[in-house]
Amino acid sequence: MPEEGLADAFGVTEEARAKINLALHVTGQRADGYHLLDMLVTFADCGDRLGFLPAQADVFTLSGRFGETLAGDGGTNLVLRARDLLREVVGGLAFPVHIHLEKNLPIASGIGGGSADAAATLRGLMRLWGMSLPVEALASLALKLGADVPMCLESRPLIARGIGEQIEALRDLPAFAMVLANPLKGVSTPEVFRRLKAKDNPALSLAPNLHGRGAWLAAIAAARNDLEPPARDAVPEIAATAAMLLAQGALLARMSGSGATCFGIFADTAAAQQAAAALHEARPDWYFQATETISGGM
Ligand code: C5P
Repeated sequence: MPEEGLADAFGVTEEARAKINLALHVTGQRADGYHLLDMLVTFADCGDRLGFLPAQADVFTLSGRFGETLAGDGGTNLVLRARDLLREVVGGLAFPVHIHLEKNLPIASGIGGGSADAAATLRGLMRLWGMSLPVEALASLALKLGADVPMCLESRPLIARGIGEQIEALRDLPAFAMVLANPLKGVSTPEVFRRLKAKDNPALSLAPNLHGRGAWLAAIAAARNDLEPPARDAVPEIAATAAMLLAQGALLARMSGSGATCFGIFADTAAAQQAAAALHEARPDWYFQATETISGGM
């Protein structure tokens, strides 16, 4: 990840990597309304950065391309909720802290920015406060903050089921050269779920012992994101975003999460960087980021 910006001046720093749903199948719905999902997830070598320092009183500062957008949320963001939740558990050890968030990822964009920030806050504050929690306790704390926060604690390739809390590491998933593309239209996740027509779609089924990029690419191509049709209804630019990635030579283009970010998988890093530059030229007001995803073997 690029070493830049304010967060690096802080004693404890954490990366909040962008989360990418290579596939997302909606397989059912729980009695409480939450949907059952099968997700194939990887993480990008780009994201937000957070810094943590002891302070006289709690302070929260923001920088980065999307920092200003978040500043207007009246303090309801997931970083502060994660800090407050962990503090309830820690009690007296939890001295005041200055948290800085370098917000490089677009807000409400389907690549887990808020969830990754919350997970990074839990990790960073545990380091700063010199504490640890048993894995299960930490995972259930994370789940209280959002369905995607437990997987962002892992930040490595995985399959998640349930509402996102049943996690299985995926050591064989290779790295991919990618471009993330977003028309900078925020998408409301509850609204996309509301527009979803079929809630009992076929489960994600991957052949055992998939090896190599070609085999994985074919498996991903055969899977789906069931939230893409309802998200395209809500935000027509999503269709154009995926089409632009394909026109730039992406081997596969799909929406991540509940959108609007789409990812394109490219043959190699040079092709991804070239495509990102061309897309930026065509739509300077949109978000395009060339990145490499991390491999399961890391
Ligand atoms: O957990 P999170 O805050 O990310 O979820 C936002 C909203 O998305 C939920 O309130 C719910 O309406 C919807 N959702 C869902 N099923 C999931 C995850 C989210 O219906 N598995």
